[in-house]
Amino acid sequence: MGLSCRYPDSGWILKDLSFYVKAGEALAILGPSGSGKTTLAYCISGIIPNRISAELRGSIKVDGEDLSGSSIRERMDSIGIVLQNYELQIFGLTVEEDLEISLRGDRGNIEWILEFFGLEKYRDYYTHELSGGLKHRLVIASMMLSDPEYVVMDDPLANLDWNGRRIIAKTVESLKRDGKGIVVLTRKLRGLEDVIDRVIHLRQYESNEMLREVKIPRMCDGNCEHIIEFRGVYFKYNKDRDYVLKDIRLSIRKGEVFAIMGPNGSGKTTLMKHINGLLKPSRGSVIVKGI
Ligand SMILES: Nc1ncnc2c1ncn2[C@@H]1O[C@H](COP(=O)(O)OP(=O)(O)OP(=O)(O)O)[C@@H](O)[C@H]1O
Ligand SMILES: [Mg+2]
Repeated sequence: MGLSCRYPDSGWILKDLSFYVKAGEALAILGPSGSGKTTLAYCISGIIPNRISAELRGSIKVDGEDLSGSSIRERMDSIGIVLQNYELQIFGLTVEEDLEISLRGDRGNIEWILEFFGLEKYRDYYTHELSGGLKHRLVIASMMLSDPEYVVMDDPLANLDWNGRRIIAKTVESLKRDGKGIVVLTRKLRGLEDVIDRVIHLRQYESNEMLREVKIPRMCDGNCEHIIEFRGVYFKYNKDRDYVLKDIRLSIRKGEVFAIMGPNGSGKTTLMKHINGLLKPSRGSVIVKGI
């Protein structure tokens, strides 16, 4: 019998699911949003049923040993999990302290892991000072330092830029070399094709919800009013740090769809927080009209 799981009052989210992963192998479990990837990560980590109640059938075994009845803590000794809501897995006040908390083994490992994950520059940063994508890298780095036998990563690609995805591929490669068994739960492989050994698909989640009509804004014909303007905006969070925004000048017109792209830690969220007024520029001005 495979693994089945349902929440109180829901239908079966996972239905008779069977898979295995061997040491030194990477398995990808692909499924669209709502197909049960996070639910599966919760079942493996023990969050279900220890923290979130749900009905479980079937079993999960690690090296032949049934996990039912074992706590989250007990499972952490052999399985390293990186959750989709990874922010809950940051325990250190600073980046270095967070890595130290997870460290099992030689302290020198912290040095290469900081370099491997492109985090050297942030070593002394408070963890709350990191961008979303950098926090994600830190959680994966900490998991690596805890040296588990098996690794489960839920949606590891979602918040990462191109370089971050390359780091995940290198991480999977390195874990395989070390003989770990890896499960990646994701919607798409996006750059992991070369390091994944096998793929299984979760069933498409059947939603009863009708798709609502989405009105796409009419594009501007060229004479539209400017509703958001950044005039030479500089911003830093802390006087001892570098500027996150440097001389940003942009102008967005009504009806225009404007994409702001940038790698992890480049300031996208910081910029958004200037538009909704959560942050004020250190220099320069932001003008937002009538939205
Ligand atoms: N605590 C809960 N109680 C009831 N239903 C839940 C709970 N958590 C998740 N679900 C439902 O279970 C289904 C699967 O959700 P899950 O989060 O596992 O999907 P997912 O594949 O991880 O999606 P995504 O790609 O968006 O992260 C969804 O219908 C969701 O609404
Ligand atoms: Mg999920």
